[in-house]
Amino acid sequence: MPAHTHAKRDAFASTLGAFAATVGSAIGLGNIWKFPYLTGSNGGAAFVLTYLLAVALVGIPVMVVEHVIGRRMRLNAVHAYGRVVPNQPYWSVIGWAGLVSAVLIMAFYTDVAGWVFAYVFKSFGAMVSGRTLTAETFGALASGTWEPLFWQVVVLAVTTSIIAAGVSKGIEKVTKTLMPLLFVLLVVCDVRALTLPGASEGVAYLFKPDLSKLTGAVLLSALGLAFFKLSLGMGTMTTYGSYLPDQVRIVPNATRVALADTLVSLLAGLAVFPTVFAFGGTPAGGPGLLFNTIPLVFSQMPGGALFTVLFFVLSAIATIGAMVSLMEVPVAWIVERGHARRTVAAVITGGTMFALGILATLSQGPALRDVKPFGLTFFDLFDFLSSNVLLPAGGLAIAIVGGWLVSREAFTDEMNKGHAEPPWYDRVVYGFIRFVAPVLILLIFLNSLGVITLA
Ligand code: TRP
Repeated sequence: MPAHTHAKRDAFASTLGAFAATVGSAIGLGNIWKFPYLTGSNGGAAFVLTYLLAVALVGIPVMVVEHVIGRRMRLNAVHAYGRVVPNQPYWSVIGWAGLVSAVLIMAFYTDVAGWVFAYVFKSFGAMVSGRTLTAETFGALASGTWEPLFWQVVVLAVTTSIIAAGVSKGIEKVTKTLMPLLFVLLVVCDVRALTLPGASEGVAYLFKPDLSKLTGAVLLSALGLAFFKLSLGMGTMTTYGSYLPDQVRIVPNATRVALADTLVSLLAGLAVFPTVFAFGGTPAGGPGLLFNTIPLVFSQMPGGALFTVLFFVLSAIATIGAMVSLMEVPVAWIVERGHARRTVAAVITGGTMFALGILATLSQGPALRDVKPFGLTFFDLFDFLSSNVLLPAGGLAIAIVGGWLVSREAFTDEMNKGHAEPPWYDRVVYGFIRFVAPVLILLIFLNSLGVITLA
């Protein structure tokens, strides 16, 4: 693994800064929207347990490899993977697949982000007029035509302008400062949700696994969510690794990021499920679960209408941070290939994302609801292809590259940089990278293809 230390690049200023920035990319709609929604549609605690195991056994090791390769190569993802193994330039395919993933993810992510933006205004209107937002509010929004498209355009315009203006770093700073506020608001929400009559049923739903609920599809979704949540498998974390200063200890940093991110997801789950059960709703509420639950739980407390507005404002901000990190991947690549200026690259990328995004958005309503390539709506298809296929496949390739193809000395050297770790430490970490992570990904893939039967 050749080291590229000549390039002068930006770096995060401190260990804490590196941690905060990495968390900033990880935390997004995945925590507050996708985690509860998938948990509800996949039967609850058995899914949560699988997800936690996937984060620990696969997610953390893959993040370690991405950070090590990123810091060692100090290059964008396509070039980093193209050069990391001498004479094997084809590993740049990891970076190429990452570009496709970024576009597919953004196509449905911007639809959901549009709902969040719309809810900022809807919750404000509800506060002023003293109403509560209902499931009908959400249904009308998501299955509409012009309204969700309008918000999707707003979301993409905001993200594209941030990228075009080259102020992503400034936005990341804002996101980071406000993230703790979202955390506090989630805790407030949890306290209210957990003291509702019947709340314990929701807690059991989250934490008392019924292993008979495990199926191949559940295992694959949990693995996919671990990748999606931690922004893994497509080069984002490799890029972030290229900004990591030398003093950052990669394994503890990755572990802390995974812990913080998972905590936020669990807090979101603890707000949603007790409320769902207390109000007699269904956990399998689909993508609208968050939007129907949060206004409900806040409606049960004094000042709740204001908290609802605040919740969606903070969520919108967290969402912008994640979208900027997703959009930056193709934009950086277009710019670095010298094909276009930053503004042009941003507009091309934003336009491509919108083209696919229209399909995702309209597939939630009558316009394209019944068009189902491979039996899935466009929204679900883009989500499935990215989270459940491309990201884990990318993660598998990354683990193979890091664990088997680059020299072990160079790898551990970069990983520990200046910290002498005991031999067992390297052996354990390396064992996860070489065996545990890739074997688990393979098993889950084979299982969902029906080649083997785990569940
Ligand atoms: N992790 C973010 C979330 O949970 C989404 C995200 C940002 C992402 N960058 C990514 C997912 C890169 C996969 C790859 O909302």
